[in-house]
Amino acid sequence: MKVLVATEKPFSPKAVEEIRRRIEDGGHTFSILEKYTAKEDLLKAVADADALIVRSDIVDEAVFAAAPSLKIVVRAGAGYDNIDLAAATGKGVIVENTPGQNANAVAELVIGMAILAARNKFSGSTGFEISGKRLGLQGFGQVSRHVAALAKGFGMEVSAIDPYCPAKVMEEAGVTPCESVEALYAGNDIVSIHIPATKETVGSIGKDLIGKLPKGAVLINTARKEVVVDDDLLEVLEQRPDLKYFADVKPGNAAVLEEKFADRVFFTPKKSGAQTKEANLNAGVAAANQIVAFFADGTDRFRVN
Ligand code: 3PG
Repeated sequence: MKVLVATEKPFSPKAVEEIRRRIEDGGHTFSILEKYTAKEDLLKAVADADALIVRSDIVDEAVFAAAPSLKIVVRAGAGYDNIDLAAATGKGVIVENTPGQNANAVAELVIGMAILAARNKFSGSTGFEISGKRLGLQGFGQVSRHVAALAKGFGMEVSAIDPYCPAKVMEEAGVTPCESVEALYAGNDIVSIHIPATKETVGSIGKDLIGKLPKGAVLINTARKEVVVDDDLLEVLEQRPDLKYFADVKPGNAAVLEEKFADRVFFTPKKSGAQTKEANLNAGVAAANQIVAFFADGTDRFRVN
């Protein structure tokens, strides 16, 4: 089988080497397309691929149409909103993700952003310490659980809300379950977003929620830009000069926000939550192993469609 790694944002060389080794040891052919800039290049590369490993690369109807031999796509990462699941299912293609493999990398970025915001982007002006402050986690999946553990190490008080996670799991992690999203936003100095982009969550964080943040609060988004309403964010930041928004997922109106609120917003130039050599290796190797296992005996434990 031919396994194509197609990553607009490349894995580290060590991760690529290890992915290649796993694929070839499994008896398959390895091929790679990195840093491509045109969709055409991806469409050409998938023409004879049986399996595909991607990151945030868009795998839509056009990709499935251009890949008649494709049997499995593995998103080396957690969020699979970049893959058209209906189109995959329609073509009989299995889609998997590699949950948890990037979690620590993203969690460390969250803490880094919390400190960057607390210290006014290291400008030299008087900031605050995150120790003793309240951290609210919206969503309590793998990234969030890692953030909670790190934040507790910093002496933060951590609470969370997640309709899909039992309160017991939070309590076992030393995290206080919060009764509503509104209460989470109203009752924390730092709120960190950890929800996927789904039909239910896209556009779900608007001015009503953001406006509930207490004085001097910081909202951190390392999840997906689509869950926050850009215009509402602009409106609240305009009305509330005390609030900050730090994100690894640039909003559509990033340039306007940066110009108007230079001291109170921060956006990574390119999504970098999972951009560590460790996360690249973990997620890339997990993806390769999942493909080898699937072709060996049909194992599809991480199937999402
Ligand atoms: C994920 O969903 O795992 C993260 O958003 C990582 O995305 P990336 O692979 O594009 O860095």
